[in-house]
Amino acid sequence: MRNEATCLQQRVENCQRKAKVLAVTSGKGGVGKTNIASNLAVCLAASGKKVLLFDADMSLGNSDIIMGLNSKYNISHLISGRKTVEEIINVGPEGLEVICGSCGLEELANLSEFQRQRILNELSKLQNSNDIIVIDNAAGICKSVVGFCLSADHVLVVTTPQATAMADAYAMIKVLVGNRFGGRMSLIVNMAESMKDGKRTYQQISRVVKQFLNTHIYDAGVLLRDERLNSAVRQRKPVVLAYPKSRISSSLVALAAKLSKGSAALHNGEGFFRKVADWFF
Ligand SMILES: Nc1ncnc2c1ncn2[C@@H]1O[C@H](COP(=O)(O)OP(=O)(O)OP(=O)(O)O)[C@@H](O)[C@H]1O
Ligand SMILES: [Mg+2]
Repeated sequence: MRNEATCLQQRVENCQRKAKVLAVTSGKGGVGKTNIASNLAVCLAASGKKVLLFDADMSLGNSDIIMGLNSKYNISHLISGRKTVEEIINVGPEGLEVICGSCGLEELANLSEFQRQRILNELSKLQNSNDIIVIDNAAGICKSVVGFCLSADHVLVVTTPQATAMADAYAMIKVLVGNRFGGRMSLIVNMAESMKDGKRTYQQISRVVKQFLNTHIYDAGVLLRDERLNSAVRQRKPVVLAYPKSRISSSLVALAAKLSKGSAALHNGEGFFRKVADWFF
């Protein structure tokens, strides 16, 4: 009886640990995804959550630079079978765990069934041992990016007030809606010149999303253009640690708190990496 109770308790604990997945994405490149994903991950880790940052940019991944990591191994070493998932994890600030990107994702499609299962089993361990997984996506709307988004609980779409970035953010939202994404979608406006400029950008996008896609995109807020963020990148530090008292850091901390609260209510049930696999293979 006692054994059964312990076993049940263990199962409940495991269920509670199953990480919520936040995918940070955009249509246009260079809008701030990596900085936003990295800083949010640090804030969430600092708040006591067990967090993994997964750099899903397989050709130009650079979260290691912002985190000041000299990563020896990345996802390509797991794919080639040379390393286990534990061996490719780097430990960043605040105990945050980071899997660095940068390899040809095409390789995944060429794996044998045996290799595929092994990788999936390895990656699935991550969801059981973390509270939150933050995905830093590559730019664009290619199959792998869309696959990571559709498998997540929450997609944070990043735009700037620039017309091209807004059009590409809308295109991304349209693809998610067209593929019946069942999680939550939020929009964050980065590099705004003023709060008014940022809010106007959110309103314009949310209006067309409502009108043409008949859905709601949540307001994740506005981040102003701030030279200290560039300066932090040059120091190879997340801005929340390099300039904790700056306005941009306060905005990122507030966003992390909001996401953390919201994530408790979200879960799409099935394992994230298994869902991702459905999109890749
Ligand atoms: N709020 C901001 N204020 C000033 N500069 C910013 C801000 N956000 C991002 N940047 C700068 O914009 C550039 C692109 O940022 P980042 O690499 O995070 O974008 P990305 O969307 O991940 O790019 P990619 O699509 O290439 O992956 C960097 O030089 C970064 O320092
Ligand atoms: Mg990036």
